Amino acid sequence: VRHFISLDDWTEAEIMSFLQLAEHYRKASFYIDQQLFAANLFFEPSTRTKMSFIVAQRKLGLDILDFNEEFSSTQKGESLYDTAKTFEAIGANLLIIRHQDDCWTDELRSKLSIPIINAGAGKKEHPTQCLLDLLTIYQEFHRFKGINIAIAGDISHSRVAKSNAYTLQKMGANVYLTAAEGCKDYSLPFPYISMDEAVEMTDVLMLLRIQHERHQVAYDKTTSYLDKYGLTKQREKRMQSHAILLHPAPINRNVEIDTDLVECERSRIFKQMNNGVYARMAIMSSVLKEWGIMDEKISEKHQ
Ligand code: CP
Repeated sequence: VRHFISLDDWTEAEIMSFLQLAEHYRKASFYIDQQLFAANLFFEPSTRTKMSFIVAQRKLGLDILDFNEEFSSTQKGESLYDTAKTFEAIGANLLIIRHQDDCWTDELRSKLSIPIINAGAGKKEHPTQCLLDLLTIYQEFHRFKGINIAIAGDISHSRVAKSNAYTLQKMGANVYLTAAEGCKDYSLPFPYISMDEAVEMTDVLMLLRIQHERHQVAYDKTTSYLDKYGLTKQREKRMQSHAILLHPAPINRNVEIDTDLVECERSRIFKQMNNGVYARMAIMSSVLKEWGIMDEKISEKHQ
């Protein structure tokens, strides 16, 4: 059985099934009548991921165990592992975890009897964000093969960049990266192009936030970064007419993108957030079924 830790673990056909199921949830009101507990363990700040997981959990009829790190026993030195084992022992059926450690999934994936969903692992992976990004692209183009995608911005500090680059390549897209020198990660097997090249040749331009909190040297929030590396109004005008604009958010307005472009016609940024609810519904219900938890509970109820 699989956790939902990396999209590397799922086949192209299975990823398509996630997208189709997410579309089903988006179009149909769906409710599962059973009591299952999901615990949301966020050790890093989050607005979109945490709140869309909560909406998705409520739509699926899951009971939610909230967790506030500041008021938890992690303040007394309890580890992530012991926190997760505690939730397992008190009856959680599913753990949603975000943690700053790139490798937090390594220990937990083999030591729990309940599934975990990776809601962000340091700078390494953000697979649920990736799935909602894929859903947004698929709604637009109805395919991935041959689509030109540039991921632009703080590549080296971005878990979104890594999850998306590898998964979009796996789905058949042509992936390019664009970044300022200090934001590049040369260990990634994707070509770098300039922002000026990117705006002219891509079908999808995925902008990333400069992650000030992960940088040793802070970038100043002036227009110089925007002019050199960001999406200005002048660059946006050179994009192909059908090209769309994505950003996982939160956004540094006037740093990686001109503030007036955040809600422009080609922007799908708020559509991505809406899709996050349905993608996360698809992920949670699929993982609970993969582990036999959902079916087991339903059959117990009818005995
Ligand atoms: N895109 C994203 O992960 O946003 P949050 O940090 O607000 O969850």
